[in-house]
Amino acid sequence: MKIKVLGSAAGGGLPQWNCNGRNSRDARAGVEGLRARTQSSLAVSPDGRDWTLLNASPDLRQQINDNVELHPNADGGPRNSPIKSVVLTNGDVDHVAGLLNLREGQTFRLFASERVIATLNSNSIFNVLNPAVVERVPIVLNRPFAVDEHDGLVVEAFAVPGKVALYLEDEASGPNFGTREGDTIGLKVSTSDRGRSFFYIPACAEIDAKLAARLTGAALVFFDGTLFTDDEMIDQRLSTKTGARMGHMNMSGAQGSMRAFESLNVQRRIFIHINNSNPVLREGSEAHATVMAAGWEVAHDGMEVTL
Ligand code: MLT
Ligand code: MN
Repeated sequence: MKIKVLGSAAGGGLPQWNCNGRNSRDARAGVEGLRARTQSSLAVSPDGRDWTLLNASPDLRQQINDNVELHPNADGGPRNSPIKSVVLTNGDVDHVAGLLNLREGQTFRLFASERVIATLNSNSIFNVLNPAVVERVPIVLNRPFAVDEHDGLVVEAFAVPGKVALYLEDEASGPNFGTREGDTIGLKVSTSDRGRSFFYIPACAEIDAKLAARLTGAALVFFDGTLFTDDEMIDQRLSTKTGARMGHMNMSGAQGSMRAFESLNVQRRIFIHINNSNPVLREGSEAHATVMAAGWEVAHDGMEVTL
């Protein structure tokens, strides 16, 4: 199974268009050790031929252009694409806006939770994905499904602690801004013989006992790397929100993801969906050294993993 990191940053990317924080400023200036990053998405393929996108970021057009595997096949006729399916982990703008780039009448299958599909259905701009050629398939949690008949990939989605998309927050509709189970999902992606598998969890508010049990012994996990410390966006005067408020657990400290993973025996741990405020983006920083020492990797655009 081949995995390509199309985008490794959280919403906004690095640099973010209106951000004058230190990371965005230095990335813009080309400071060494600080690579520009597009918004979080993976491409996965069992054979290097047919590809499934995990999330569709607003940067998808650039991501396709930057990754030759996703270009049309020269012998495949006037219009074709190796992208056969797209699986969404939530309704966040950084994960769904790229669907609009896939509007040229190309057939693929779109998998998402029932609530995310309802959100897409309720917004007529997404009808540019002609329902006659782009089937919207609701995901049933905890029930593995094949992404298509030939592809050889099986995906299982499961609910993780999180928050409903920012633009759907509604205090009147219940606790945590009306969040319901399944608004944020993690994905386990396996080869059809189940011989190889990995997890993709770009948003997660907490590793509870259920999630810890699920991840224990995994070969590879891509995990929410939004923030290093819960209040770093406030510290840098970029926002008034903590990570907890946004539905993201941070990396460091007693409540952080590095500590939570210590006992899970996961062979390979890669942070993804990294916010432009996060000091781990800067190679050589203390935070970067800390995550390396804890056995983590920091995803970058174009990173390739073969499982
Ligand atoms: C998030 O990951 O918290 C969201 O992408 C935030 C946003 O929509 O800007
Ligand atoms: Mn996001």
